[in-house]
Amino acid sequence: MGEIVFTEKQEALVKESWEILKQDIPKYSLHFFSQILEIAPAAKDMFSFLRDTDEVPYNNPKLKAHAVKVFKMTCETAIQLREKGKVVVADTTLQYLGSVHLKSGVLDPHFEVVKEALVRTLKEGLGEKYNEEVEGAWSQAYDHLALAIKTEMKQED
Ligand code: HEM
Repeated sequence: MGEIVFTEKQEALVKESWEILKQDIPKYSLHFFSQILEIAPAAKDMFSFLRDTDEVPYNNPKLKAHAVKVFKMTCETAIQLREKGKVVVADTTLQYLGSVHLKSGVLDPHFEVVKEALVRTLKEGLGEKYNEEVEGAWSQAYDHLALAIKTEMKQED
């Protein structure tokens, strides 16, 4: 793959919006997971912390951890795309991500579901600061990270 063009502006937009969402992790984690389940109700049973409940739990540590990982790693990916023109995830981290998702039964289309949930959560959190440029920057970074994880999952298969 050739060099990826990810601008300073895009990097700044991703960083700024993560700073805003970070101020209320319980709220936005809940929103993020509610969106995932609204789009793909069947995804519920993949998550250990959702399997035995009817409602998305508020302030659940594992739920918050997953939401934070998705946002934070996407943000880190944005920084790398701008600095290096590619995604750099430590091999051990990528192997871990590959095996966790493979074991949990995650499939390629689920990554699109999570992306849509991420976009909707940004919309909710940013209000009038949300626009297509913000969405584009997050989407681009997320797609690169998701591709790295999906590729690793296929290698472990
Ligand atoms: C677990 C990151 C996408 C489902 C994990 C873990 C990480 C992680 C780091 C380990 C547990 C933790 O630290 O919370 C990511 C990242 C993603 C992504 C960075 C995308 C860029 C997805 C998608 C799905 C998914 C698309 C399916 C809809 C799960 C499940 C677990 C998990 C079911 C096990 C959690 C549990 O049951 O406790 N993910 N994930 N992830 N992930 Fe993801």
